[in-house]
Amino acid sequence: MRKKICAGNWKMYKNLTEVSEFFDQFQSMQKADSDFEVVIFPSTHLLSAAIARARQMDGKVKINIGVQNIFTEKEGPFTGETSALSVHSIGVTYALIGHSERRTLFYEADDFISKKVRTAIDAGLIPMLCVGETLKERESGKTEEVVTRQILVGLSKLAAESDFVIAYEPVWAIGTGKVATPEMAEEVHKIIRNRIGDIFGPKKAENSSILYGGSVKPDNAESLAKMPNIDGFLVGGASLKPKDFIAICNSY
Ligand code: PGA
Repeated sequence: MRKKICAGNWKMYKNLTEVSEFFDQFQSMQKADSDFEVVIFPSTHLLSAAIARARQMDGKVKINIGVQNIFTEKEGPFTGETSALSVHSIGVTYALIGHSERRTLFYEADDFISKKVRTAIDAGLIPMLCVGETLKERESGKTEEVVTRQILVGLSKLAAESDFVIAYEPVWAIGTGKVATPEMAEEVHKIIRNRIGDIFGPKKAENSSILYGGSVKPDNAESLAKMPNIDGFLVGGASLKPKDFIAICNSY
């Protein structure tokens, strides 16, 4: 069964009080569909607080808490890095991996990212692998080539039974207010689903959730959600505001 997922990437925003305020307002979210999930990615030091609040939402909607980044090794002498095993032990269930800000600002390459994807699985976390082309790559007709490489390398260390989620986020749409049209996004989502099929077979491709990210807002979510291969969203800016995030979740 293909899950619908709305994920909020809080990046380096929100303090402890603001996390609490978010959940106070998010309480009003009512959605009981068993195939719908919310994932929130707060800063690492706020994971425990977010987990405690998410547990109080008692069944109205399934809220997972994810970590924004992990290191390639499960544990060891790596000062300042985040252990997938350790965050799993406190109740974290997802790991965001290969976000374009990590690829660009911290020079993370596909092979390094593929190790993190594997480490997440080994630690019991569900990796949410982010892929997407830059504006220059799109304009030079390289979208399919870039996304295919990111998928093939990113998933190369996994077995067919591994549980993962893909987030397609065109880099030119992140934080810019420029959103891909539903048709543009759908075209790339289909390519991604086909690549998953090439690696793991058609059944896995059919059951995999592929999210769209990049300037998703309440007023564009509905038309994107209608596309058959868009199974949810990875939301940055709009996920910081409970009202907007609820509206986006309700587009499914
Ligand atoms: P945005 O960010 O929704 O603010 O464009 C998306 C993301 O970075 O995941």
